[in-house]
Amino acid sequence: MIGDMIKSSKHIVIFTGAGMSTESGVPDFRSDTGIWKGRNPEELASVAAMDTNRREFVEFYRKRMEILGNIKPHIGYQILSNWGERYNLKSIITQNTDGLHEQAGNQPVIPLHGTIQKLHCHNCQKTYSNERYYQGEYVCSCGGFIRPSVVLFGESLDNKMLKMAQQESQKADLFIVLGSSLVVSPANMFPILAKEHGAKLLIVNHDSAPLDSIADIVVNDTKIGDFLKVVSDIL
Ligand code: APR
Repeated sequence: MIGDMIKSSKHIVIFTGAGMSTESGVPDFRSDTGIWKGRNPEELASVAAMDTNRREFVEFYRKRMEILGNIKPHIGYQILSNWGERYNLKSIITQNTDGLHEQAGNQPVIPLHGTIQKLHCHNCQKTYSNERYYQGEYVCSCGGFIRPSVVLFGESLDNKMLKMAQQESQKADLFIVLGSSLVVSPANMFPILAKEHGAKLLIVNHDSAPLDSIADIVVNDTKIGDFLKVVSDIL
């Protein structure tokens, strides 16, 4: 069934969330072991936190950068690259900022929420390597605050990314969600947009998600890495 859908699709779009990265050792946000457990993300990953809670803001991102410094994409990323060569996988829209899709050579990737692998000055936009956070230096030569190049709560997404994701979602005839709770907008709009434009919607997520009711197929309680391996074996 799923294998036939992949083989017969002309425009496959993959949409990933933090669940795509957990098997590489990167904690997600909202599952039982997620980093938001018991925390309000607005207190940490927001423009307000950057202004009023700077020490904890920097510490939170420095820790995430350290985790990312020692991880590698798991086999599921390689499988997505293989699908890109053998089937009509046209794009990967990701909410993840860890850069694992890029590290695995997946392409083209549409990083909706930016990247934690780079920093820029909040005032003059000058870019910096994330080494600066390890060295404890957060002040730009212009005097501005150096922050990660991720989209914080309270910030809008880059229009170019939004437009690319919108075009891809409208063209998709198969839209596959891998590892997202689908609770954050506007990212969670794209599966709906794909469905509205005639795509088949497949949601692969350990926990149930709010858009399960509009999906053609839902796969819960299964690790994404295992799912991708099983499907690849039957393709
Ligand atoms: N296999 C399958 N599903 C998994 C796995 C796995 N190995 N690991 C985690 N999951 C599922 C969890 O059940 C959870 O529902 O992935 C989902 C991840 O959901 P979230 O933690 O909410 O992550 P995400 O949907 O990407 O969050 C969206 O919120 O905090 C912001 O900007 C941040 O991009 C992020 C956005």
